[in-house]
Amino acid sequence: MQIVTVPSVRVEPGVRWQDPVVRPRARAVARAIDRAATVSPARHDGPRAGWLAALAYGVAYTYGGSVDRKALALAAVVLEGANAFVFTDRSGDLVAIARLLADERLRTTAQRLTRERAEWLESLAARLRAGRVGRRPVPEGVLSARAAVLLGGLCGGVDPALTASLDEVATWIGLAWEQAQGTLDDVGWRGAWEALGLERDRTCPVRGARDALSALPYSALVEQLDDALAMTPAPGRVFQAWRPHPVPLSTREPATEGPLAAAVEAAMDAVVGEGPPLFVASARYLRVQGGKRVRPRVVLAACEACGGAPERAVLAAAVIEWLHTASLVLDDILDDAHVRRGGPTLHRATDRAFAVAVFAWLLDRILLATRDLDADTAQVVRTAAERLADGQGSELAETGRPGLGRTAYHRIIATKTASLFASAAEVGALAANAPPPRVAALRRYGHAVGLAFQIADDVLDYTADEADFGKRPGTDLLAGKATLPWLILRDAATDAERARLDADLGRGADWTWIRTQVVQSGAAEAALSDARVHRDDAVRALDSLPAGPARDALAALAHHVVERRT
Ligand code: IPE
Ligand code: IPE
Ligand code: MG
Ligand code: MG
Ligand code: MG
Repeated sequence: MQIVTVPSVRVEPGVRWQDPVVRPRARAVARAIDRAATVSPARHDGPRAGWLAALAYGVAYTYGGSVDRKALALAAVVLEGANAFVFTDRSGDLVAIARLLADERLRTTAQRLTRERAEWLESLAARLRAGRVGRRPVPEGVLSARAAVLLGGLCGGVDPALTASLDEVATWIGLAWEQAQGTLDDVGWRGAWEALGLERDRTCPVRGARDALSALPYSALVEQLDDALAMTPAPGRVFQAWRPHPVPLSTREPATEGPLAAAVEAAMDAVVGEGPPLFVASARYLRVQGGKRVRPRVVLAACEACGGAPERAVLAAAVIEWLHTASLVLDDILDDAHVRRGGPTLHRATDRAFAVAVFAWLLDRILLATRDLDADTAQVVRTAAERLADGQGSELAETGRPGLGRTAYHRIIATKTASLFASAAEVGALAANAPPPRVAALRRYGHAVGLAFQIADDVLDYTADEADFGKRPGTDLLAGKATLPWLILRDAATDAERARLDADLGRGADWTWIRTQVVQSGAAEAALSDARVHRDDAVRALDSLPAGPARDALAALAHHVVERRT
């Protein structure tokens, strides 16, 4: 039985501001509506974009503990149906709404939800009562977005407190939309604020929405809503960076095992302790968001393996880790990467211009900190910074070039990644006052570990799970980076396959096929074999060091970087 006529939901060609939210769910929404309602493509002003239903689906499936699929499908019908009716002023539509609400299936579903999710509904009712809803008119865009979030929350069994945050996001997005349409007046503003008990000094809804988004646990939905906001044709786009500190932090805190891990974190804080508050806050965001802290471990173990007290290498370890972190800020802008360490990259949490400024400031802080290091160590850090820049520059020059040779690939990863690992091992040895041959051996070790590390990283970009990796697989392909697994696959490909691979570099449309090919053709494994050759070089470089736990730790680290999943 179909309950009512609803205009069909169809994502049409062309870009609409809601697309980032709608596209991933359009098919599910259209199917749900097709099943539950009589669909009329011609009714009203053409097919619906499906924004409200998609929002409800997004909320339910992203944050819900137990999705009631049947109820959610009906919610989609109600949201899209009611919204279509509201936008036309035919009196018959009121009858249609009444029919919709009186529908048998809707009523039984509502009764079931009232029974099964009574507590949830009670918490909503309490919030609505406290929020004085209804004293002033609320703009239509706000009302419908809030309804979508609340229905998505109800049908998904989303935690009520989280639903409240989502409700706030919906309010701001509704306001942004109304403002973009030129239909937002003072009464509407105040009505929306009052309904949620929001502060009144906000004049930019896009900004309000982003702040509210930052209070949510990070998810694809957060990103999609953020993308939608970026496309909202709001009068007066907001160029200010929004504060990074309320951005939800991922659960991956910095790796803290090891006796000096806390000392390294404290030294890292001290390096970036002073500066414009937004930059200091960004640095904190970057530090607390975590990371494996592989390079500080290399510094400390190298020092110890050369007979030095690792305490002496703590500042050098902190400086090297900052150099690495700063290079990631830039790298993520260059690669247009959205996810890092399980959360949004800095330029996604703020904006590109701001992240570039943070990068420049971090470099300045790093160079300042080298004043507290001995002259040789400071020189190693400065050279490392230069090489990093060289490496990223030459990678950039080769971006999008499918014909990149393997030699060129190795040259790039040697400069962009292995150089920093070599410097990490070197500064460790210097902190122990090691004699030059030992310093050189550790440099060789670091260099080889770095090569192995980057090759493994490039393989993981095809084989990892986002949840483990903390980064989004496929980013390299999308950014036009021809990396070793891809190059190996390409070398073994037929002409037709090669043409397909080349055409897709930098596009990612064939991602699923390429990912499968990289694994099934053995290219991923072949690249890892290459990484293992460098790993063995690294372990051999340790031969001249005295046996002991620190040397063992360095050898274990060389093994780990190749076999890791994170
Ligand atoms: C990422 O390095 C950059 C590469 C050289 C591949 P890591 O994988 O060490 O990044 P974090 O610090 O653990 O996040
Ligand atoms: C490492 O390369 C770049 C740096 C040396 C900063 P990637 O671009 O592969 O690093 P991820 O994968 O983003 O961490
Ligand atoms: Mg990258
Ligand atoms: Mg990169
Ligand atoms: Mg990578």
